[in-house]
Amino acid sequence: MRLRPEIAGLPAYRQGRPAASDALKLSSNENPFPPLPGVVEAAVGDGAINRYPDATAARLRAALAARFDVDVDEVHVGAGSVSLIAQLLLAVAGAGDEVVYPWRSFEAYPSLVTVTGATSVQVPLTADHRHDLDAMADAIGDRTRAVIVCSPNNPTGSIVTETELRSFLDRVPESVLVILDEAYREFVVDPSIADGASIVREHPNVVLLRTFSKAYGLAGLRVGYAIGDRALLDAARSTAIPLAVTGLAENAALESLARDDEMLERVSVLVGRRSEQLDAVRAAGLRVPEPHGNFLWLDAGEQTGAVAGVLERHGIIGRAFPGSGVRISIGEQEATARLTAAAAEIVALLEPGHPLLGGPSRKG
Ligand SMILES: Cc1ncc(COP(=O)(O)O)c(C=O)c1O
Repeated sequence: MRLRPEIAGLPAYRQGRPAASDALKLSSNENPFPPLPGVVEAAVGDGAINRYPDATAARLRAALAARFDVDVDEVHVGAGSVSLIAQLLLAVAGAGDEVVYPWRSFEAYPSLVTVTGATSVQVPLTADHRHDLDAMADAIGDRTRAVIVCSPNNPTGSIVTETELRSFLDRVPESVLVILDEAYREFVVDPSIADGASIVREHPNVVLLRTFSKAYGLAGLRVGYAIGDRALLDAARSTAIPLAVTGLAENAALESLARDDEMLERVSVLVGRRSEQLDAVRAAGLRVPEPHGNFLWLDAGEQTGAVAGVLERHGIIGRAFPGSGVRISIGEQEATARLTAAAAEIVALLEPGHPLLGGPSRKG
């Protein structure tokens, strides 16, 4: 059997590690709360899973179109926003083309690009873990078919502001697709974040992506959505595997949308926990970038294995990116005490001058 060489070389998607015994699984940026009240019942609906779902997810698209004040054809729904990224990239990029994105960012981007046959152009984040939008604009050339902007950025938690995004878009040719990945948008309280919902209406080459996996707590059902230009979304629909969004997922997403107040209450609990945990690790002496999503980023570098080991001994399973850092999702309340204890041990473990040191009680 002859495999495409770039596919044969692809690592399989690495999922966040499950937790053993009483450890907390904080490795996949999941919502610790169950689905909103009534959502599981609504998902099952009349139980007619002997029938195929509506391939167009018309009810959910209509609800989203009303929410974003766009036409139904300017909404596309997929089995998770990750599948929408795949569809959009397949629609615009192939062999010989390039896709520009920040790095480090969402771990799925490199393989999604490789599958299209295109080449990844990874633009390093700035020293303070943010998108380097000038360098990203400089990286756009004749072969560039798409650029990905991830705000808040997974795993570093930084956002792209309105001013930054607008001046960046001024430098992106209209023929280049810009995917604005806002999987964690609901957790942002900083008003300077770019208003993706308005920007997408002004720039036909921008597609906004959101998901029900994070704030709405529906990661297990796989449903996300895109808002953008109809022709672009039609192209994405053409590359999609038909019928991937189940009727259960559509029902659950519709019911969840109708319960935004409850969703926002839970988000504010998680945002409160985020501040509490951020304060705890900073007070211990760790330098942690301002988090805008539902996770913290520990820039552990070569000490990533050791830092992840300390966290694990304290009952926290984070997501370790070898040689880079550890991402810890904001989950259960018990994590605060565990993180506080782990942070003190991490500070003791690191050599003076390590980039992860430098909170208020800087070591050395
Ligand atoms: C930045 C980012 N985009 C997209 C996704 C995909 O989410 P889903 O496919 O569950 O909608 C994730 C999931 O972790 C993510 O971190």
